[in-house]
Amino acid sequence: MNHINLTIGILILVNSCLSANILAFLPTKARSHYGGFEPLLKELAVRGHNMTVLSPFALKDPPLSYYHIQVEDEILAMDWNPFSVAKHFKPIFIPFMSWLIWPKFTEMTINKPSVLKLIHSESLHFDLVIFENFFHESFVTIGHKFNAPVVQIFPSVPNAGVAQWYGNPYIGSYIPDVNSGFSDDMSFMERLTNTALSFVYTALSSLYYLPKQSELMDKYFNYTGWETRPSMVSMLKNISLTLMNTHFSIGTSRPLVPSFIDVAGMHLRPASTLPKDLQDIMDNAPDGIVYFSFGSVIKLSQLPKDQFEMIIRQLGKIKQKVLFKWDSDDKIDFPSNIIIRKWFPQSDILGHPNCVLFITHGGIHSTEEAIYYGVPMLAISVFGDQLHNSLVMQNRGAAIRIKYSEFSEDAFEMALYKTLHDKSYKEKAKELSVIYQDQPLKSLDKAIYWIEYVIRHKGAHHLKTNACELTCLPESVGTQND
Ligand SMILES: *[C@@H]1O[C@H](CO)[C@@H](O)[C@H](O)[C@H]1NC(C)=O
Ligand SMILES: *[C@@H]1O[C@H](CO)[C@@H](O)[C@H](O)[C@H]1NC(C)=O
Ligand SMILES: *[C@@H]1O[C@H](CO)[C@@H](O)[C@H](O)[C@H]1NC(C)=O
Repeated sequence: MNHINLTIGILILVNSCLSANILAFLPTKARSHYGGFEPLLKELAVRGHNMTVLSPFALKDPPLSYYHIQVEDEILAMDWNPFSVAKHFKPIFIPFMSWLIWPKFTEMTINKPSVLKLIHSESLHFDLVIFENFFHESFVTIGHKFNAPVVQIFPSVPNAGVAQWYGNPYIGSYIPDVNSGFSDDMSFMERLTNTALSFVYTALSSLYYLPKQSELMDKYFNYTGWETRPSMVSMLKNISLTLMNTHFSIGTSRPLVPSFIDVAGMHLRPASTLPKDLQDIMDNAPDGIVYFSFGSVIKLSQLPKDQFEMIIRQLGKIKQKVLFKWDSDDKIDFPSNIIIRKWFPQSDILGHPNCVLFITHGGIHSTEEAIYYGVPMLAISVFGDQLHNSLVMQNRGAAIRIKYSEFSEDAFEMALYKTLHDKSYKEKAKELSVIYQDQPLKSLDKAIYWIEYVIRHKGAHHLKTNACELTCLPESVGTQND
């Protein structure tokens, strides 16, 4: 009996040595930014860390040491139609549009009772804080507030504006900005635009965008002791680790400094059995199944009627059954081979051997799933990183991409025919799947390893390049006196 008690005692001791108090400061209501990291937050708790997660999204079956602080919901005022603005997304305007929109979003996100309460809390203690930095630089001060090392997470690849603080290369000639819509195979004009983008994100950001974030920091993060904090830029440079949702099998090959770790696809897992009705449909499909979904952000019902009809008309002509994610209750006569639902278990459908094609918008999570399960894509990409993700897949022979702004029935018909009849798309998709899966550590284990590494080495500041010590133009931005 004593022997058992001793063993349990040692186990508890070992466990408590490894377990840390971790805060995940993720108040932003953007599921596509949060979703890729949810498995990490959960797994950290499963492995014995005491997780406190501030987020509008709650976990379904939280582990014991997972404390969720609910962020109040908001009705987003801008109910925009991505299809109608798609043609205005010229790459060079994107930073300026982002700078106008995101500080408003940052402010809306912080100015909520739950978030302000945490900012002004006095009794909590954390060994590490994690925050999401897609245009949320001001959040970095949460590390200062709790006097803890900081890990930043990224829903895609950090742009030049972020990379500059760590000396991570952003060379315009061959490293495409993910929101440019370019791949690494650029024309001269594209390289020029891409270089101009990095100039805008670095040099110009100190004129408007960074001061704006710094202002928000001083306005809302006025916790006890805030007066003596370093400038926002010094704190950004002091970030210990950057986890990003990319991998060279999914994005492009690019150099990374040691504190930049690619952890794409932490949510990926072998497919499981489908609900009975879907399993029957998938099992009994001699010609295969086409899966059609534009993800959770883009609503197909917002597509102009004529284009919607073009898509349906062409899908009605193929011999495969089509599982079609459709968000509206409108009564529409779909051709008999199209099965509509508001929701499908996407991973398990893509993971079924009879899934022959994924028609998608090319969002990062969908692209990761297509690669993991080795399914070729026909991407109709609308905005953001969708254009980049799907173009990279097209260049690798695993997809055909149609820019939404250039959509036509002919282009769709042709792409549908090619991806369904030319076996090379499937073969390339399978090859990419093998490459993605051939990694020394699974993405989730890799992310955990590096987070625990930062805790073990008290911030692991030795990972940083000396670029963090160089003074560059925006250095003075974000001090209290400017
Ligand atoms: C774990 O975190 C919760 C919520 O932040 C806190 O109340 C609790 O004291 C922490 N537990 C330990 C053992 O530190
Ligand atoms: C850098 O982070 C460490 C915690 O890892 C902290 O002790 C130190 O004060 C920070 N320095 C700056 C300049 O923010
Ligand atoms: C923090 O700033 C807000 C206004 O932005 C103000 O209402 C509040 O009193 C300040 N709190 C402290 C502790 O200074």
